[in-house]
This record gives sequence, C-alpha cells and structure tokens, in this order.
Amino acid sequence: VDELCFPSVGMGGAAALRGAKVTIVGCGSVGMACASSILATGLASTLVFADVDSKKMRGEVLDFTHGGAVRVFYHANVKAAAPNYDGSEESDVIIITAGARQRPGESRLALVARNAAIFRSILPPLVSRSPNAILIIVSNPVDILTAIAARISGFPPGRVLGSGTYLDSSRLRVALASQLGVAPKSVHASILGEHGDSSVAVASMANVGGARFADIKMSETAWAALHARVVGAAKDVIELKGYTNWGVGAAVGALVGFILRDEKRVVPVSVSAKGTYDIEEDVFLSLPAVLGRGGVERVLRVPLSAAEHSKLHASAQALAEVARSVEL
Ligand code: NAI
Ligand code: LAC
Repeated sequence: VDELCFPSVGMGGAAALRGAKVTIVGCGSVGMACASSILATGLASTLVFADVDSKKMRGEVLDFTHGGAVRVFYHANVKAAAPNYDGSEESDVIIITAGARQRPGESRLALVARNAAIFRSILPPLVSRSPNAILIIVSNPVDILTAIAARISGFPPGRVLGSGTYLDSSRLRVALASQLGVAPKSVHASILGEHGDSSVAVASMANVGGARFADIKMSETAWAALHARVVGAAKDVIELKGYTNWGVGAAVGALVGFILRDEKRVVPVSVSAKGTYDIEEDVFLSLPAVLGRGGVERVLRVPLSAAEHSKLHASAQALAEVARSVEL
C-alpha cells in the first residue's frame, strides 16, 4: 500500500477527557441534522451553533435545550456563537454547512460563486479562534469549497476535509445491499472523485461479505445503472422534499466519531489529491483516507482498473476547471 503521510498534528488528547467542542456553522436543515447525529455520539461536551440568521440560530439552541435533549438524553451544552464567532474558541472540530443549496434541477457546481464568497468571509474569524481545529466542509460544491477552506485556513492539509463521497458511498452500499438481499453493513463499496456527476463507482474495491466484486457476477451495465442511481439520488430527494439533510447529517456524525475516537477508519472523503493516484491538478476530491484524531492521516492507494483510473482523472480535471473559475 502506497502511503502519503500528511503531517498529522499532535491533537488535543484533552478532548478525549473533557469531551470535544464542536462548532457547526450554518443552522439550516443540514447543520441541524449534523448536530443531532453528533449529539447522539455522546462525544461532544459543547456544541456551538453559528449562523448569519441569528434568530434561526437562537431558536435552534433553544429547541435543542428546551426539548430536554441536552443534559437529559445527551450530555452536552448547546450554545450560540456571537456574529464574530466569539464563543467558538478552541473548537476541536468545525463543521461548515453555511451557504446556498441547489434548487430543483440546479447542479451543485452552480453554487460555487455564492458559497465561495461566504467562505471567504466566515473562515478567517473561525480559524483564528480555533487554530488547532479539524475543518469538515459540507456546503456545496463540497470539493471546491474544501480546497478553498484549505487555502484560506492555511491548516495542514490533513486537517481540512470534505464529507465528499462518503454519503454517495453509503447510498451505493444501500442500493447494492437491497439488490443482493443482504445488510448494507455487509457491503463494502466506494465512490471516489467528485461529490457530483463525475464521481467514480469503484467496482474493484467492492466486496460483499468478503466476496470480491468479480465473484458477485454483476454485469458492467448493472453496476453502471447502480452508479447512475447514486448520482441521481440527491435530485430525487430534492424533487420530493426540496433538500437533502438526514443522510449527510448521519454521514457527518459518523466522520466526527471516527475522528474523535481516533479510529483510523478508512473512508472516502474529500482530500488534497495532488500527487496521489498520479493526479497533477491541485484539487480536493474523495479518495480512501485514514481518518483519526489528526484528521486525514494518510491516503491509501488502492488498485483501480484502467477505466476507473481514467474516470478519476476526468473527475479531477472537471473540478480543476470549475476551481479556475473562482478567484480565491
Ligand atoms: P439551508 O438553507 O437550510 O441552511 C443554510 C444555512 O446557512 C442558513 O441557515 C443560512 O442562514 C446559513 N448561512 C448563509 N450564509 C451564511 C453566512 N455567511 N454565515 C453563516 N451562516 C450562513 O441549507 P441546507 O439544506 O442546510 O444546505 C446547506 C449546504 O449544504 C448547501 O450548500 C447544500 O448544497 C449543502 N449540502 C451538502 C451535502 C453534501 O453531501 N456535501 C448534502 C446536502 C446539502
Ligand atoms: C446530496 C447533495 C445535496 O445530498 O449534495 O448529495
């Protein structure tokens, strides 16, 4: 296994004792779904909410507190940050879900200008108050915004990651499990590349209860159809309810747990890809990453078929093209 070691910064073991402080920027549908799943891990002793809509933010703090969820079912304080992000100091993890979301029929990439402008305004005060935090970017287009967050924050690359295709991979596992009549937990399958239309469903990494993909005897056409369902999943949900949030909230809660428990879990998340998998573009996209208390600690080089390798490169080029359209 080739290993690209990011300098994983020695992170606060104190968090493990005092319970972590997690700041969530953006108290919308996604941010609150993240809050709910993070509280359920029991790993956060303080949750800080931040939003430009202070009424919404204060309402969410009150709702989580009054609902008896805090200090009754969950053991965490939920607080509101000041408009300048005072109150978020020394966060262990900062999750960014602030920004515009797609309208029905709109692509994630169409959000780039609006949300990049938001990132340029919110990141400096956030990172100056939490210089040792791990940033998890969720806002879309998540790969481009993760690259922007990495550049603006100046953090070591391993400490800035995007939720990337971890959600897409869970959608693929659920769809494949349903087709095969097995539990999703017994299906290991990953989608790499852009969290979007150019993503790559990696058959060579798929296995079901240890049986390799080749043993599953699924045709290339059936695999491609499964991937198309995953790529269209968000569109299907947005057409029905206007947005997606519960799937990504659960995914982000899981990522926070892998980090705070220092699990070294291998998951596809959006990482700095330049120099891995022969990628030359300076982009972030999802690759199999070892996630621990230092954030992304290594990127694993897994065997890809020639077609998968070429699709991954096409994804990197598509993202690089969009990134060029956004001045930092
Ligand atoms: P939403 O509209 O419910 O919430 C967005 C929140 O951001 C609002 O409360 C708004 O007041 C806040 N906000 C806007 N500008 C801000 C600023 N400058 N500072 C602080 N807060 C600000 O939207 P929703 O559904 O929560 O989606 C949020 C983002 O997450 C969107 O970009 C959406 O595309 C993305 N998303 C990403 C997914 C992924 O898998 N990466 C999945 C689902 C959504
Ligand atoms: C998703 C979109 C919104 O749910 O990024 O995948």
